[in-house]
Amino acid sequence: MCGIVGYIGTSEGRDILIDGLRKLEYRGYDSAGIAMLGEDSKLQIVRCKGKLSGLEGKLAEAPVSGSLGIAHTRWATHGRPCEANAHPHRSGPFALVHNGIIENYALLKEELESNGHRFSSQTDTEVIVALLDHEWQQVKDYRQAVRNTLKKLKGSFAVVIVNELEPDQLVAAKKESPLILGITENAFLLASDVPAILPYTRKVIYLNDEEIVFISRSGFQLESLPDGSPRTAFPHWVDWNPIMAEKAGYKHFMLKEIYEQPRAVIDTFRSVIDLESREIHFAELNLDRNLLRQIDKVCLVACGTSYHAAMVAKYMIEALCRVPVEVDLASEFRSRNPVLNERVLLVVISQSGETADTRAALKEGLDKGAQCRAIVNVVGSSIARMAQGVIYTHAGPEIGVASTKAFTTQLIALYLLAAYWASETGKLTREQTAQMIQDLIELPSKMEKILSDTDKINGWARKYMGFKDFLYLARGTLYPIALEGALKLKEISYIHAEGYAAGEMKHGPIALIDTEMPVMVLIKHGPLFEKMLSNIQEVKARDGIVLALIEGETSDAIGEAGNQFGMPVTSDWLAPVLFSLPLQLFAYQVAVLRGTDVDQPRNLAKSVTVE
Ligand code: F6R
Repeated sequence: MCGIVGYIGTSEGRDILIDGLRKLEYRGYDSAGIAMLGEDSKLQIVRCKGKLSGLEGKLAEAPVSGSLGIAHTRWATHGRPCEANAHPHRSGPFALVHNGIIENYALLKEELESNGHRFSSQTDTEVIVALLDHEWQQVKDYRQAVRNTLKKLKGSFAVVIVNELEPDQLVAAKKESPLILGITENAFLLASDVPAILPYTRKVIYLNDEEIVFISRSGFQLESLPDGSPRTAFPHWVDWNPIMAEKAGYKHFMLKEIYEQPRAVIDTFRSVIDLESREIHFAELNLDRNLLRQIDKVCLVACGTSYHAAMVAKYMIEALCRVPVEVDLASEFRSRNPVLNERVLLVVISQSGETADTRAALKEGLDKGAQCRAIVNVVGSSIARMAQGVIYTHAGPEIGVASTKAFTTQLIALYLLAAYWASETGKLTREQTAQMIQDLIELPSKMEKILSDTDKINGWARKYMGFKDFLYLARGTLYPIALEGALKLKEISYIHAEGYAAGEMKHGPIALIDTEMPVMVLIKHGPLFEKMLSNIQEVKARDGIVLALIEGETSDAIGEAGNQFGMPVTSDWLAPVLFSLPLQLFAYQVAVLRGTDVDQPRNLAKSVTVE
């Protein structure tokens, strides 16, 4: 939530900052702003309500310039979206951008107001810069004033600060909100996320919590916020490239990311499977067979789409590894005082690796001595660094707010975890493990087939785009995919949609069925097939419209073939990956036809770094 960028170097920085904001707009787009120090060392600040394009329009009329500056794209928490609440915020010689939430801002604000300070926004951020100005007036030492200010803040922050009085320095700090420092030959960049700096450098330092960095054009000094001691940082090479973060000719990032899925799935399994020996090796998971044998409970914890991946994994891990699995929403997990100890394996799942609730759930696990691992897409993210072992999904940067390729690669990572666990503990024979790997190898071509055959799904989108409510029904491993399909539709097309376990139909939702309620059913051959057919008959008997994704051939028992989409055959464990694709395409097409902002749907942000 909120994207921040900073630049200090020897070139003009404005376009670099604006380009960085463009790459971070997925984190929020309620307002945007920039502050630069020009040659006269005076602050030039331009802010605008709404998307970055509005700011660019303003800058065309009132250009700013300089080789040092900060910029921000906002997802509103405190204070509605408007120019007064847009960052950067200023007080005296200081201007600042912030991502996070200051929990004690009301108290601090009251104190500052009693000292005569007048605020011009409703944000918690303005309190930080006002406090900095106040502290500076007390100590007349910039660095000390920054330290004093940050120590008084409760909550989460990533901040970047410019100061007219010290115009050759950028100061940045973080606590629980992400911040990276990119290093080039002649400049330093700060950003909330890697895509903002990728065109300029792949050499990156991931700042740790409670670190401050003082950056000049010739170098930087890192120190600990609590005690001021110097810290050493080791740069990492990011293996994403700038082209991965572009649209590559697609109309939307979401569409590009949908089509990238076969490649992303291959990259994810190729990173851990030895194709010769058909064995699975997780280089960074830190979970060997002795440890696996000691585990007597698994907790899978995540938010949103990643939570749906966790739900699928419960079926796989319980069936294959015969160990009980609890699945929790991170926001609930952290507040329910879960029973955790060293025999519990906690696996948190997060595309961004920065989601505040997931991060807090992981901290809860670490504090209580559980075995804590993470499945993460963004290398170097907070969750990846906090966990005691990681499986990386190799989805590449996911820019569209609605998660697609991150989700299917999470499913693959979890599938591999279950297969590895079951084979290491003797629950699967060598042949069975090899068969699971073979099924996986055959998956990308089946995904390609679905993605190349979109006429029917596009037709459904045209026909049903005007409906107000949708129901998604499935059983078994496809039940979480019904939830995910409904989530995709509601978040980008703003149509109300509910996912349900088909067995629950008679316990309530069947009352909703009428001619105005399309029902998307996900149906696979196997023990649950007949039961799904019965559910379909129940919908039809009440004049509901059935749209069916059905494994293999279409079935007369379901109704007209035009309302059925034949899915390639695969195992129960991999079917969730395949069934996700037409649901993503359907949601995408409906959203495009309804003219919504597909990549940046209203009120959402990609990385939910506040609670
Ligand atoms: C929906 C979506 C969100 C995220 C959720 C968790 O399309 O993208 O529901 O899945 O905010 O985010 P991560 O996985 O980054 O922790």
